[in-house]
Amino acid sequence: MPIINITSQPFTDQRPGTSGLRKRVKVFQQEHYLENFVQAMFDAIGNTRNQTLVIGGDGRFYNETAIQTIVKMAVVNGFKRLIIGQHGLLSTPAASCIIRKYQAFGGVILSASHNPAGPEGDFGIKFNIRNGGPAPESITEAIYQLSQKISSYRIFECEDISLSDIGTQYLQDMQIDIIDPVTDYAEMMANIFDFPAIRALLCNGRFQMRFDAMHAITGPYAKEILEKRLGAEVGTVINGIPQADFAGGHPDPNLTYAPELVAELFAENGPDFGAASDGDGDRNMILGHGIFVTPSDSLAIMAANADLVPAYQEGLKGIARSMPTSQAADKVAKSLNIPLHETPTGWKFFGNLLDANLATLCGEESFGTGSNHIREKDGLWAVLFWLNILAVRQQSVLDIVRQHWQKYGRNYYTRHDYEEIPTNKANQLIERLQLQLPQLPGQKMNGYIVKYADNFGYHDPVDNSIAENQGIRIGFTDGCRIIFRLSGTGTQGATLRVYIEAIEDNPDKLFADTQTRLQDLIELADSLAGIKLFTGRNAPTVIT
Ligand code: G1P
Ligand code: ZN
Repeated sequence: MPIINITSQPFTDQRPGTSGLRKRVKVFQQEHYLENFVQAMFDAIGNTRNQTLVIGGDGRFYNETAIQTIVKMAVVNGFKRLIIGQHGLLSTPAASCIIRKYQAFGGVILSASHNPAGPEGDFGIKFNIRNGGPAPESITEAIYQLSQKISSYRIFECEDISLSDIGTQYLQDMQIDIIDPVTDYAEMMANIFDFPAIRALLCNGRFQMRFDAMHAITGPYAKEILEKRLGAEVGTVINGIPQADFAGGHPDPNLTYAPELVAELFAENGPDFGAASDGDGDRNMILGHGIFVTPSDSLAIMAANADLVPAYQEGLKGIARSMPTSQAADKVAKSLNIPLHETPTGWKFFGNLLDANLATLCGEESFGTGSNHIREKDGLWAVLFWLNILAVRQQSVLDIVRQHWQKYGRNYYTRHDYEEIPTNKANQLIERLQLQLPQLPGQKMNGYIVKYADNFGYHDPVDNSIAENQGIRIGFTDGCRIIFRLSGTGTQGATLRVYIEAIEDNPDKLFADTQTRLQDLIELADSLAGIKLFTGRNAPTVIT
């Protein structure tokens, strides 16, 4: 067959970050750039001969171009079968579902999540392993090492395959199945949740809901599941047609980037329930009429109500949350008498816990929630989880959240991001903080006494791997915390994330405004780290 061997040279910037390799589209468009990474990936993941590979992406600009290249490289790397979403589309959770369902060797997901798309925007590629989850660091590091030694790659020279016709085609001996991107995922959701109860809620003539797909991948999924299968009014899903540039938007479902949805939910006659998902469908934002549910609270409330959802009726094995996520779920784990696992930021750290059945629900403060049904966080799953709770409890979101706080106390929580700051300044800030850590325990600041101050390290209880330097955390004797870390997903400069949490058990103080309640800790964070000084900024770029 016309295999061509192309001479190439390493690119020094191919180390995958928190979630695969993410770069500007223009970087990926450089000659050999994508091919080098794909070859390194195929070489790093083990014997690809006779294996099945799932391929799909969030539909952003360059998605189909990249898929054509990957297909032509997969055939010469010995894969027996490819399963590809029609038009190259698969949400990240659907890709995870399909890898598991068809017992594939793994999957290639093309996405830069919520980062803006289009020729001037971002692109990304990551590899998910057999369990459906992101490749562990041992693999991503091996990919990087190989990418630094690469001298050539192999590719099949042929016409592009069709990504639009559902069905089977062949490239040489390799079978290529183009599948409907939604069906398998929708079936899985129907097996997890109480669809009849949700349908009754959505069709009761009173309940109003809005789902914002933000012009990204979840549109077709949400329309099929919410409107078609569950009977929600047509128009419940807004911005539901995926666009290659996400209509110029920034599909990150949070208070900053989904302002219209937030405004609608806070309007006088606003809907009862609102939700949004991100570019590739793994994040979620949950809103009720007049309330935004923080992702940390959402995880805790889901855990406390998991027995209302058919798939979790038997009980949870444990809850896992990333270190910066608030400790609200810890209280629920304690009352359920199940373990709470604290992991570094990034979904890949949950994979082992889920595989070993040590955790059933997982969550991150960054609008990610999921469970053992797949090995990625899952936006629509979280929305359906909330609908299932609402359908059974027949209460408003506001009442459910308030009752939760009354029972467990409230963890006031905010994250302040300083985006695109100079990398050297960000590093200096962290280094200076790091030097201060040994002196902090026991010190009294603004009335808070420091209990511990360290750089978080994680020992994985399943494979005994160690992850160090996962974020600077300063904990106080009353349970409050300030955490600093640098983003591992940004594509421009550095992003400083400052996470602030205060614990309130006084029933009379549960309903204050978050930023006001946390003001003294916010000021303390600035004086500890010299944020204004190092970043030159007076205010964060994004507050969630
Ligand atoms: C961010 C979030 C993290 C999430 C990741 C991928 O990573 O903070 O929780 O897992 O995106 O969606 P970061 O940029 O902070 O490294
Ligand atoms: Zn995402």
